[in-house]
Amino acid sequence: MQAIQALLQHPDIRFEPFSGSLTVDNPATGDTVAYVRTVSAEGVHQAIARAQTAQKRWASKTALERADILWQWYHAVCGHKETLARLMTMEQGKSLNESRGEIDYAASFIRWFAEQSRRSDGDVLTPLKHTQRMLVVKQAIGVTAAITPWNFPSAMITRKAAPALAAGCAMLVKPASKTPLSAYALAILAYGAGVPQDAFAVVCGHAGHIADAFAENPVVRKISFTGSTEVGREIFRNSAQHIKKLSLELGGNAPFIVFDDADLDKAAEGLIASKFRNSGQTCVCTNRVYVQAGIYQEFAQKVAEKAGSLKLGNGLETGVQQGPLIDRKALSKVEEHIADALAKGAVCLSGGKRSSLGGTFFEPTVLTEANDDMAIAREETFGPVAPLFRFDTEAEVIARANHTEFGLAAYLFTRDTARQWRVGEALEYGMVGINTGLISNEAAPFGGIKASGLGREGSRYGIEEYLEMKYLCIDIA
Ligand code: SIN
Repeated sequence: MQAIQALLQHPDIRFEPFSGSLTVDNPATGDTVAYVRTVSAEGVHQAIARAQTAQKRWASKTALERADILWQWYHAVCGHKETLARLMTMEQGKSLNESRGEIDYAASFIRWFAEQSRRSDGDVLTPLKHTQRMLVVKQAIGVTAAITPWNFPSAMITRKAAPALAAGCAMLVKPASKTPLSAYALAILAYGAGVPQDAFAVVCGHAGHIADAFAENPVVRKISFTGSTEVGREIFRNSAQHIKKLSLELGGNAPFIVFDDADLDKAAEGLIASKFRNSGQTCVCTNRVYVQAGIYQEFAQKVAEKAGSLKLGNGLETGVQQGPLIDRKALSKVEEHIADALAKGAVCLSGGKRSSLGGTFFEPTVLTEANDDMAIAREETFGPVAPLFRFDTEAEVIARANHTEFGLAAYLFTRDTARQWRVGEALEYGMVGINTGLISNEAAPFGGIKASGLGREGSRYGIEEYLEMKYLCIDIA
């Protein structure tokens, strides 16, 4: 705790209650970790005005100067990995191993975009006349804003802020109220590296008021949001007035398809990784598991054994693999989905109930005999429940997998190369994992289609979200 308090030296954070602050609690123990100042809508508008001034100075640096600062930030994050990971486990609940993994993941975006900042190349086009020259240049979009979720308190910030800063934009970040400390810790390290404070400001407070201020203020030219489809729709609507550029990384309902020619051990490992990462609380977590009839029982047994052996507990304790759910609302949704499934014919092979640890701990659960009438087939559970659906043919499973408004991530396991291509192309999703349950990394374009959102984060495409293309036509006659 000493290292954490030493790192969190920021006027917005205190370790005793103060007026106008929000409380950050540890979901594993219920203890309060810290108190964080909240801002009013007026305070957000003031921060936007300061960001506007800071952005001009930041954009006037060369790409190489910005890259050097991002590299410093990357090294600072790596140097504080253990402190940042412990802080994340304390405010979010995930196991320390997962937090360490997330800090690596968060740092990877800073490194990646430090490299990419030098490559925002434009183009020289073939002119239509001898007397004409036609060029395309890329310019920073200006002041941008990010609204980030509690499930990845660090990586979802760096995946947005690193490309924004690399491109020459300023960014205001509104972190989730449950996990603001990781955001502040990243910002403090960024300032130490040379990022101007007003070019990368953290604002905490009422989510609706802050989101409205971002949408209403014409100075903010782009909003990047990760969260629910419901809130994404509202941000989309509210941003219409000023026609803001948007990146929306919204809900998912990921299918995980296991064909009868798959390597079943590998598929079971892949499912555990995809389903139980962060206790099932990721947008790309498997939600529906489709298993071909001939291997259904064998695969179900393998998965139930692995899920049953996952160790639950306070993420700071050695060997713990699964932390608590974020809050009671999350717990209720998991319970509702299980109760609905059991009432409609599902069979519980493993877990199925709250853990004896109490609080919001829930046993990793495997259900068989799931069917398409169950709520779990349509809605994202966002918890540690793997429902196994039976299927017979390839055409049938493609149709069932695509039968959802969402289109974020999908997974398939088969040894047949032609089928990998055929099914991979037929799935209506932004990302498809083939013979793997883990697809996220900094080089990959992360994002979805349909109600799962707009735009891509990470990868060489990610920086484009923070750049405007400008066409220059020069008459040289
Ligand atoms: C998310 O759940 O929103 C992000 C997951 C990831 O980056 O893998």
